[in-house]
Amino acid sequence: MRKIKIALLGLGNVGSGVWKILKANNEEIKKRSGYKVEIAKILVREKSKERAVEVPEKLLTTDFNEILQDDSIKIIVEVMGGINPAKNYILSSIKKKKHIVTANKMLLATEGDELFKAADELGVMFQYEASVAGGIPIISGINDSLTANKIEQLYGIVNGTTNYILTKMQFEGMSFEEALKKAQEKGYAEADPTSDLEGFDAQYKLAILSSLAFGTKIDIGSVYRAGLSNITSEDISYAKQFGYVIKLLAIVKEINKELEIRVHPTMIPETHPLANVYDSFNAVFVKGNAVGDLMFYGRGAGDLPTGSAVVGDIITILRSNVDIENGIPVVKNNLWHKKIRKREDIESRYYIRTTVKDLPGVLGDITTVFGENNISLKSVIQKGSDEEHLVTIVLVTHKTKEGSIIKTIDELYELKEIHKVDNIIRIEKFK
Ligand code: NAP
Ligand code: HSE
Repeated sequence: MRKIKIALLGLGNVGSGVWKILKANNEEIKKRSGYKVEIAKILVREKSKERAVEVPEKLLTTDFNEILQDDSIKIIVEVMGGINPAKNYILSSIKKKKHIVTANKMLLATEGDELFKAADELGVMFQYEASVAGGIPIISGINDSLTANKIEQLYGIVNGTTNYILTKMQFEGMSFEEALKKAQEKGYAEADPTSDLEGFDAQYKLAILSSLAFGTKIDIGSVYRAGLSNITSEDISYAKQFGYVIKLLAIVKEINKELEIRVHPTMIPETHPLANVYDSFNAVFVKGNAVGDLMFYGRGAGDLPTGSAVVGDIITILRSNVDIENGIPVVKNNLWHKKIRKREDIESRYYIRTTVKDLPGVLGDITTVFGENNISLKSVIQKGSDEEHLVTIVLVTHKTKEGSIIKTIDELYELKEIHKVDNIIRIEKFK
């Protein structure tokens, strides 16, 4: 039996999952890959820290050079996160012709081009299945299985932490803070959970998916992003009244040769398959011009689901029919140049919740502003508020341009009756 030595950079949630899987499925992995995989070194920040797995102390190091200079280590598994030093460690490993597996979406979405190019030039394999949607094989799905298609639309619930929080708020009446704490305990959240809550994590993942699905380079700054922090239980309950569920949705569509690409809380019909994706589960809904509608579904975060994708990538390298010393380039994401639509040109339906002063004619004044901006209203609900002299007015529009909504909101604030525009949530009908 051939033996292959690998090193882990990181032994946190994901690193521990990789360790557990390599141990538990040792025999299967040997048979499937033709190799006995040996973890030769593990880079950590602090050797004495208590860990989720029991690891011989001699494997732990805080010195990356010990790994870099060891020519017997052929695969580097980066599961430490962040931009630097992860980027420098990967680049120097590539120069040493070590193959790379990473779960680091932040790094790939912001600096991926440079890394892919370096790997390409030296014939080093670069695998990153775990970077999007944890255990779901969406990268290989798009990169391999769907390449016969022109992909037209892609919608994803790609952040496990926020989906878990929304599920717990919706069905168990849990507070936002309590649900976040539980998600952190379960190992779903990023080291800094702001990345999950404010939609950065989903933005990185959408940039990676869009780049693969549409064969174009995506500048992360061009991906519109809004997070969950504005969503209240009131919005969840209004959504229910209208027959919707709120999800943090990553959306990319090709419209007239331009890409509309955005991440934000979205109301989706409760009958759509994505509405029934709960807890830390993720799902990616893809529309291809040959395959039609397709949905990938599974655990999007956590040690074992993510570890499953990472170990799968290690096996892909071992089975790749390339000499482990001379890999093959695997990523070609700069096939076309696609223009990204301006935010103002995005078309959607909108839910707008306002608090207004309870004055005669207020409803008429508000709906007039919408009318003057050519926005047609589908529903309007007025409800007394707990605060005296204030009422809540919720409006749902038909399809309109985001630019018109931005202008309308500015004009609403000029009305004497407006106290506050509490929230605006886009509605997706998948048409
Ligand atoms: P984590 O629990 O915070 O673990 C990070 C590990 O990396 C720790 O073992 C830490 O060492 C080590 N590390 C961090 N910075 C280091 C440095 N400068 N030098 C040496 N060691 C360093 O993170 P995680 O949840 O496993 O996530 C790891 C990566 O996987 C991230 O890129 C994340 O976005 C991605 N990912 C996570 C999930 C998930 O469900 N958690 C899913 C998909 C992808 P110490 O233990 O000594 O502190
Ligand atoms: N923090 C991420 C999430 C981990 O919650 O989805 C998986 O990428």
